[in-house]
Amino acid sequence: MVKITFVEHDGQETEVDARPGLSLMKNAVAANVPGVLAECGGNCACGTCRIYFDAEWARLMPAPRESEREMLDYWNEEGEGVRLSCQVPVVEDMAGMVLRLPESQN
Ligand code: FES
Repeated sequence: MVKITFVEHDGQETEVDARPGLSLMKNAVAANVPGVLAECGGNCACGTCRIYFDAEWARLMPAPRESEREMLDYWNEEGEGVRLSCQVPVVEDMAGMVLRLPESQN
């Protein structure tokens, strides 16, 4: 398992024992992280699973597909430090990673 911390907009933290190979979103939902809604169930169709991360973790993020880029555009999310958590698989090197969540996923 890989320890990953999700931080709500209000500072509330949830530490998750994440399973490698599953997406960040699936791990967050399984651990009842409140700020990850994931309304489409991981189909890259809702954008309610957005996460923010610091640059030090960028090397562990696979390049986003066009569909993910379009969804982030829809939410006016720009820049390097944002992803849809349903599109990012957990890997062992993510141990200790801290992810921040938006004020609202809607
Ligand atoms: S769960 Fe819907 S886009 Fe990620």
